[in-house]
Amino acid sequence: MTQQKRIDSQLGRPFRRSGIGRRPAREYGVWSQRRQGGGTSFRQGVKGYVEEIKKVLPLTSGSIRTVLDVGCGVASFGASLMDYNILTMSIAPRDKHVAQVQLALERGLPAMLGVLSTHRLPYPSRSFDMVHCFRCLVPWTKYESGTIAVWRKPTNHIHCIQKLKLWKSTRLCVGSDPDASWYKKMETCITPLLNVTDIHAISGGALGKWPKRLMTTPPRIKSDRIKGITANTFNEDIKFFAAALMKFPAWVMNVVPYNAKENTLGVVFERGLIGTYMDWCEPFSTYPRTYDLIHAYNLFSMYKDKCDIVDILLEMHWIFCRHGSAIIRDHVGIIVKVKGIADKIRWNAKIFHSGPFHPEKILLVDNSDE
Ligand SMILES: C[S@@+](CC[C@H](N)C(=O)[O-])C[C@H]1O[C@@H](n2cnc3c(N)ncnc32)[C@H](O)[C@@H]1O
Repeated sequence: MTQQKRIDSQLGRPFRRSGIGRRPAREYGVWSQRRQGGGTSFRQGVKGYVEEIKKVLPLTSGSIRTVLDVGCGVASFGASLMDYNILTMSIAPRDKHVAQVQLALERGLPAMLGVLSTHRLPYPSRSFDMVHCFRCLVPWTKYESGTIAVWRKPTNHIHCIQKLKLWKSTRLCVGSDPDASWYKKMETCITPLLNVTDIHAISGGALGKWPKRLMTTPPRIKSDRIKGITANTFNEDIKFFAAALMKFPAWVMNVVPYNAKENTLGVVFERGLIGTYMDWCEPFSTYPRTYDLIHAYNLFSMYKDKCDIVDILLEMHWIFCRHGSAIIRDHVGIIVKVKGIADKIRWNAKIFHSGPFHPEKILLVDNSDE
């Protein structure tokens, strides 16, 4: 098949795959099992429901910034939390509730296909401040009969180990990387928190309150757990890019290749932002026409020996909203190749130079009608 034919045939491809699954993380878990008929419904509306939760959890304090909503329906819960400056990642599979995640994304809310099942969800350990599950149809073994249950994760494992001795409950996992969660099977053990010596210490380091948290050096960087990124690099290069984006009425899904040299996804969450692991040689866990802008820095260089540029560009084409745009920064040789394929997909793409002798170029794709 010629490259153009392959592009044309794949442009008309049908919906692909659902997400893979994993366990809840950082702080609070809210499980609710009110059974009141099918479909999405909150007895006093979602606002009344959030008001109820506010009575027991500090939603307005800035200490809960990121939430994972498991079995999100049309993401009304996540939409409602926006009033509190809380960013919710809503997940649901593609099941009899059909295109709920598509609807959420079309409403402008962060959402992904995802199912809590046998695999870890594509996020690192200790990523979300709160996990929520309202009639999410996950067969929990406990709390099935109550209307609402709130569980708070311990701040370290000293008390946990003490309690385990007493309760003889599930063992702590040994030897598996807590941040690895790409095609990683869940195990019946509790992922241990980082070691501390003081029972009052917070494992992994304390996080500031939102919005201060965004600009504070994340604990994973402060403690040198990310190769190649120091507190200085963070302060000089990284901090202000995110801050610049915060001015706009947009949210960013920070996508980190699962096998990137530096696994920075934990840092993203520590800053109070959201994201996911991804393998660009596979489809993204979303629906067609769901993102307005794709920003890719050195992505094509990273994947050049792993899969075809055409496949990645077709995936991006599938993800774009109707007038989707892209900013692609890469080595000149790669940018020239990407531009050739972008023309075949009939993207409106232009190369911009970073300076006459600069090895990096920028490809700007603007598919809007203006
Ligand atoms: C009854 S709806 C409730 C939707 C929403 N939480 C609400 O109350 O408005 C059940 C939701 O759980 C999702 N779901 C079912 N099994 C799931 C699983 N194993 N993991 C994640 N979500 C699941 C469904 O796709 C659907 O979004």
